[in-house]
Amino acid sequence: MPQQPLSEGYQVFISRPVASVGGEITVPGDKSISHRALLLSSIADGTSIIRGFLHSEDCLATLAALQAMAVDVVVEGDDLKILGVGIEGLHSPPGPLNLGNSGTATRLLAGVLAAQPFDSVLTGDASLRKRPMERVAIPLRLMGAVIETRGGGGAPLKIKGGRPLTGIDYTLPIASAQLKSALLLAALWAEGQTTVRSPNPSRDHTERMLGVMGVKIEQSSSHTVSLTGGGRLQAQELEIPGDFSSAAFFLVAGLLGAPDGLLIRNVGVNPTRTGLLKILQEMGGQIELRNQRECGGEPIADLFVTQSELRGVEVCTDLVSLSIDEFPVLFIAAACARGQTVVTGAEELRHKESDRLGVMATGLRILGVSVTEYSDGLSIEGGSISGGRIDSQGDHRIAMAFTIASLAAKGAIEILRTEEVATSFPDFVSVATRSGLAIEVVRSRGKDDLSDE
Ligand code: S3P
Repeated sequence: MPQQPLSEGYQVFISRPVASVGGEITVPGDKSISHRALLLSSIADGTSIIRGFLHSEDCLATLAALQAMAVDVVVEGDDLKILGVGIEGLHSPPGPLNLGNSGTATRLLAGVLAAQPFDSVLTGDASLRKRPMERVAIPLRLMGAVIETRGGGGAPLKIKGGRPLTGIDYTLPIASAQLKSALLLAALWAEGQTTVRSPNPSRDHTERMLGVMGVKIEQSSSHTVSLTGGGRLQAQELEIPGDFSSAAFFLVAGLLGAPDGLLIRNVGVNPTRTGLLKILQEMGGQIELRNQRECGGEPIADLFVTQSELRGVEVCTDLVSLSIDEFPVLFIAAACARGQTVVTGAEELRHKESDRLGVMATGLRILGVSVTEYSDGLSIEGGSISGGRIDSQGDHRIAMAFTIASLAAKGAIEILRTEEVATSFPDFVSVATRSGLAIEVVRSRGKDDLSDE
């Protein structure tokens, strides 16, 4: 893929090989659940408390958008108090809502805003503006919404207010929790029933949280969900579990380099999120779920991972939507495994914060790994990894994934453009350091002032 010119003053991680990782860590609150807790609390009746909220750039973008629509929020340490305005209480924002890098914020808010009596505009950064938005606009239009996307089908999204919505029965072209959630949110205001059918299951946090807040959801299978409009949401105390997608980096770190084990406490293990566990276990990874419990309708556990000999596998396509955000770090595990790992059926990875198939293939090849790229996947020949300089293309999960590769690499790995790590895991470097990784954060003013290996 063409490399973009590097802008001046970008952030670089230098991840140096270390002998091992271990001990005990916690990861911050779940990003998907934090977005939903904000959105649903805002339109609920009464005051909600959100504990363990993820204060990352993406979630703060959702928070700012809701504040711009007259929702009052009190920040109390890590907790938030949201003064819900009720289902009819959102106000017209003073200008366009800028959701930064967040596809989740944009698509979920599109569902909410399609049903409001006022006009709105949703926009974001350069990466977000390239991401496909017609996929959410098309079904919302079928419900009666009036939405314009930019020329190629991206953001800004211009939404006309005051259009009555009617429930639809819609089959999603892809398994996407963002699309499913946008339609379920719009359905809250729609006349009659909305049914969303998916080709495969996707994360179900919206359904679970709506249920906890008193909205009846009918789940006729793991692929089909229905909601009838006209209900109201009741404020709740919501506890956000640790983000499995953030824990994923440390699961792979532990498999590569924790002879005495690494414990990751308080992680959400909703089965619509944990496809990676199955894949890593199939690769020979030793991961134990300890102290399993439930909180706010979401299952939680402590994850204990021990260094393991990994072998390559053919990843079952049914697991793709259940591990959609974990492929960057899975590809690192595959590069360190014995034998070949093949992933197909994952074309969707080309539409995330970057083209994750293309950017990962390029980065792995720079580290000497043999990779074949398909339109919908990668095949990776596991073996030895060298040090090298990778461009993360501003994709948070790719930046974090390559830091983990240093556990198996023969030299330091420099990862360019890592600022976006703050969108999902602002404390990543300090948590990684606590686990035993050695990551230095430097700023570069251009290509040439970075040390060469
Ligand atoms: C998310 C859904 C996923 C995931 C994204 C967060 C969500 O996207 O990639 O990071 O919170 O709903 P899909 O819409 O492809 O499922």
